[in-house]
Amino acid sequence: MSAYGHFDDASREYVITRPDTPLPWLNYLGQDDFFGLCTNTGGGYTFWRDAKLRRLTRYRYNNVPLDLGGRYLYVRDESGAEPVVWNPGWKPTKTALDSYECRVGLGYTSITGRKDGLQVTQRMFVPPEENTEIWQVRLANVGDRRITGRLFSFVEFAFYEAQNDATNLQRTLSIGEVQVQGSAIYHVTEFRERRDHYTLFACTDEVAGFDTSREAFVGVHEGLHEARVPSAGRATGSIARGWNPIGAHEVVIDLQPGEQRDLAFVLAYVEQPEPKFVEPTAAAPLGVNTSAGRAVLEHYQQPGAVDEAFARLRRYWADRLGAFQGSTPNEHATRMLNTWNQYQCMATFNLSRSASLFETGIGRGMGFRDSNQDLLGFVHMIPERARQRLLDIAATQLSDGTCYHQYQPLTKKGNADVGGDFYDDHLWLVLSTTAYVKETGDASILDEPCAYADVPLADAERPASTLLDHLELSLAYTLAKRGPHGLPLIGHADWNDCLNLNCFSTEPNESFQLAGDVEGSTAESVMIAGLFLGAAGEMERLYDHLGRTEDARRVRAGYDDMLAALESEAWDGEWYTRAFDAAGEPVGSHVNDEGRIYIESQGWAVLGGAGLSNGRARRALDSVAEHLSTDNGIVLQQPAYTRYHLELGEITSYPPGVKENAGIFCHNNSWIHLAHCMLGDGDQAFEYYLSVCPSAKQSQIDTYRLEPYVYAQTIDGKDSPTFGQAKNSWLTGTAAWTFVVLSQGILGIKPSYDGLTIDPCIPTIWDGYEVTRRFRGSTFHITVSNPEHVSTGVQRVRVDGETVDGTTIPVPASPRVVQVDVVLGAG
Ligand code: GLC
Ligand code: GLC
Repeated sequence: MSAYGHFDDASREYVITRPDTPLPWLNYLGQDDFFGLCTNTGGGYTFWRDAKLRRLTRYRYNNVPLDLGGRYLYVRDESGAEPVVWNPGWKPTKTALDSYECRVGLGYTSITGRKDGLQVTQRMFVPPEENTEIWQVRLANVGDRRITGRLFSFVEFAFYEAQNDATNLQRTLSIGEVQVQGSAIYHVTEFRERRDHYTLFACTDEVAGFDTSREAFVGVHEGLHEARVPSAGRATGSIARGWNPIGAHEVVIDLQPGEQRDLAFVLAYVEQPEPKFVEPTAAAPLGVNTSAGRAVLEHYQQPGAVDEAFARLRRYWADRLGAFQGSTPNEHATRMLNTWNQYQCMATFNLSRSASLFETGIGRGMGFRDSNQDLLGFVHMIPERARQRLLDIAATQLSDGTCYHQYQPLTKKGNADVGGDFYDDHLWLVLSTTAYVKETGDASILDEPCAYADVPLADAERPASTLLDHLELSLAYTLAKRGPHGLPLIGHADWNDCLNLNCFSTEPNESFQLAGDVEGSTAESVMIAGLFLGAAGEMERLYDHLGRTEDARRVRAGYDDMLAALESEAWDGEWYTRAFDAAGEPVGSHVNDEGRIYIESQGWAVLGGAGLSNGRARRALDSVAEHLSTDNGIVLQQPAYTRYHLELGEITSYPPGVKENAGIFCHNNSWIHLAHCMLGDGDQAFEYYLSVCPSAKQSQIDTYRLEPYVYAQTIDGKDSPTFGQAKNSWLTGTAAWTFVVLSQGILGIKPSYDGLTIDPCIPTIWDGYEVTRRFRGSTFHITVSNPEHVSTGVQRVRVDGETVDGTTIPVPASPRVVQVDVVLGAG
C-alpha cells in the first residue's frame, strides 16, 4: 500500500489510485507479435514485432511528460452550463476527476475515470495471437441527471520506420495518407509503393464524425491538453494530406441516470492480401483494398467478441504463470513469484532491451548476454519458444568463439556496427543451454545443427556444427584467451559494459565500448574467470548426465586450471579483485584509491565454486556486507569514482552513486543472493532480496519513484544525493535473476537432469511454504515445513506419501500430479 496504489493479489492487478504517480508507471499490452506500451494515464505507443521497423503509433523522444502521446479518450460533457472536457486517464487535459483508478493487469490496463456522474472505463489489451489492440469502453451514468455530450478517441500514427519517422521531416511531413470508410480510419502511408500493410483504427459503434489530420484535431500551436476539436465540440472530417495523420472518432453520448453503454475501439496492424487496390470511389479515392481490415472490425462488432477475446487473454496468462505458483510467509516474495516477476520475465522475452520508457525502441536490438540470461527466467513458462531462442542466439556466435554483442530480432543477424569482442558473451550460452536441458530433459537440442555467423552451415568441407560445438568452443575460447595472470582477457568489457579497460578514450564523440584496440591487450577480468567456473561446472554436470565421462573429466581439468589461477592471482586479502587493467595493475583491490572492492567478482567467484574450501567465499561475502551493502541494495563498488580514470573507461564517467559507478545495479545483487544461498545463509539472502524488491518499496515510493510491481535495473547508491531512486524499470536482467533467486535459491525448487531437486535456503523464521510447479508435463505439489526453524537441510522427503532417499524427485513416466512433502531440519 502506498499513496499511489496497492496490489490486488487475488485479481493479479496493481491498482493505481491517483494518476500523478512519481513517474509514469508502465505496462505492456501484447504477447505475440503486436505490442503496446501503456502507462497509467493511457500514454505510450504500439508496434508490430519490431519497435524500430513497424511502429504504428507515434512517440516523441525524451518527452516531458515522459509518456506524452497515447491512446486517449476525451470526454466533452455538455450537460452542464458550460461544457467540460476531461480524460478518464487524467492526461492530457489533467482536468480534475472525481475519481480515478488504473488497474495494471497481465497484458491489459484498465483505466476508470469519473466526473460529474459520468464514469468511463477504458480497458486496453491485445488478444492472444492477434495483431489488434482493443479498447473496451464502458460509459456509465452513475449520477442523477441526464448526461449528454461527445466522446472523442485519439491516436497519432507513425510512419512505421521509427527513426525515419522521428528525424527525416523533409520527407515524412509530405507522405502521410489515410482512407476513411464509416468508422474505419486506415492509415495507408506508403501502401501505394512498398508496403502491403496498413493500420486500422475503428470504432465498433456508429460515429458522428472523425478527424485524421493532427492540425485539424489538435491545432498547430496547441498541445494535446488543449486539443481544438474536443474544445470546439465537433469533429471536422479532416482527411490528412501529408503532415501528421491521426485517428480520431466522435461518438455521441446521451445517457439517462443508471444507464450504461458499451463500445470498443480497435487499433490493428493489417497485412492486406492481393489485390492491394480496388476501384476508387469518391469517398475512397486512393482505392486501397481494405477488406482485411474490415474483417477485423466486423469481428469485433459481433456481440460478445470483445469479452471472448479478453477471456482468452486471461486464460493465456493463467496458463503461463501456472508453471510456478506458490505461497510463502512473505507477501512480497509470494506476489512477485506468482505474478509480477514471471510477468516481467515474459516482457524481457518479448522485448529484450528494445522498447520501454527508458529504451527508445530505435536503439539496441537483442543483446547476446542479455538474451541468454533472460532465458533463465522464462524457460519454465515457454520451453518450446526458449528452444528456438537459444538456437537463434547461438547462430550469432562467430567461429572463433566470440559473438556479435547484439543482433536484430527481425533478421536474427548480428549487428555489425556494434561488433563483438566482449569476452564474457559466449559463456552465458552455456548457462542458458544447460538451464533449458535441465528444465525440459530435451538433450536433443545439443545435436541441432547450428551455424556460426561467419560460416555457412552447408559447407561441404566440414561437418555441420551443432549447438554442443558452440558450447565447447565457448569454454575453449576463454581457456585459451588468457592474460599474464592466467585470467581471461576482458576485451571491450565483460558483463559490466562500462568497465572498458582497453578504450583509453579522450574523444567525446566515440563510444567507450567500441573505442580502443583489444587486439594485443592483456587486460584481464576476474569476473569472467568466475563465470567460466560456473559455466564449466555446468558443462561437467551435463557431460556426466550424458554419460560422457571422458569429456566431463576434460572440462574438469580446465575448471581446475582456472580455479587455481583465480585463487592464486585474484585474492586480495579480504575479497577477490575485479580485474587487471591494460598495464597489469589490479582493479578492485585495496591498493586502489577508488573502486577498491567490486560486487561482480565476489558473486561469480563464489557461484563458480571458488573460496569454498579455504574460507574465502565467506570472507568475500562478509566484505560485501561491510563495504557495499545498503538498505536499498548492494552498490556495485566502493569508493565511487570521483574522477575520470582513462584506464577504466565509461564506469568512471557516471556521477558517483549512479549506474555502474557505485549505483545499485539490481541484476548483480542477485548473484550475491545466490552466493549466500550456496553457503546456506537464507536469512541474509532474503534480507538482501527484500532490499531491491519493488513490492517492498511502497513505503518509500516517493524516493523510489518507479513501478512497485517490476524490478528496476538500477537504484541510486549511497554516494548519490538521490540515494534510493530507481531508474530503468522493466527490461533488465534483474527479472530473470531474481526469479532464479526466489524460485531456485531460496525456495530451492531446482530443475536438474534427473528430476526436480528440492534444496531450500529460507529465512529461519519461516514455518514453511508451498509450491505448485509444472515440470516436464507433470505437476508437482510441494509442501515444505520447517519445524526447527533452520535455513537449509532436508530431513525427510515423501513422494505421494512414501519416504524416499535424496532430494531429487524423478519425473513420472506419464504426466500426472505428484505430491511432495518435505521436512527441513536435522531431525
Ligand atoms: C545493461 C546491459 C547488460 C550489461 C549491464 C551492465 O543491463 O544490457 O548487457 O551487462 O548493463 O553493464
Ligand atoms: C550504457 C549503460 C550500460 C549498458 C550499455 C549498453 O553503457 O550504462 O548500463 O549496459 O549502455 O549498451
